[in-house]
Amino acid sequence: MDIYNAGVGEELAVLRKTAVPVTEFNDELQKLIDIMIESMIENKGIGLAAPQIGDNRRVFVCSIDGSEPLVFINPEIIETSMETWIYEEGCLSLPGIYADVERPERVKVQAWNRKGRPFKVEADDLLSTCIQHELDHLNGVLFVDYLPEKKKLKFLKKLEKVNTKK
Ligand code: NI
Repeated sequence: MDIYNAGVGEELAVLRKTAVPVTEFNDELQKLIDIMIESMIENKGIGLAAPQIGDNRRVFVCSIDGSEPLVFINPEIIETSMETWIYEEGCLSLPGIYADVERPERVKVQAWNRKGRPFKVEADDLLSTCIQHELDHLNGVLFVDYLPEKKKLKFLKKLEKVNTKK
């Protein structure tokens, strides 16, 4: 499955949309989740959100260090730590772009799993960053949005250039 690229106009427009809550936990949703996990692994990502493959539902997956992928449906952050930490983030939708982003070090998230059962998870460090980054995707937010405007525009321009050359 092709990952949507922020350097392509129509694909960026999809990445900028706010995703809608999942209402049906049907076979079709299971298929979407399987495709997302496959795409994440194939592309060596640690997380992937549905809008990145052109689906506008509130679903993302995370897998740190090859661990069993976690599936988050209709996720919500219910607690964040005061402490922050900085991690050099990247994104499958912004290939070749990396930058330090400061986020809360720990988060508590409430979501539904693929079977439609609610769960809560407390995450720190990399998993916390991954969850926050992926949840941002569901709100049309990209990690470059946290950078100074000039730097962000420079990165987006660079992506655009790479894609028009193809
Ligand atoms: Ni991303």
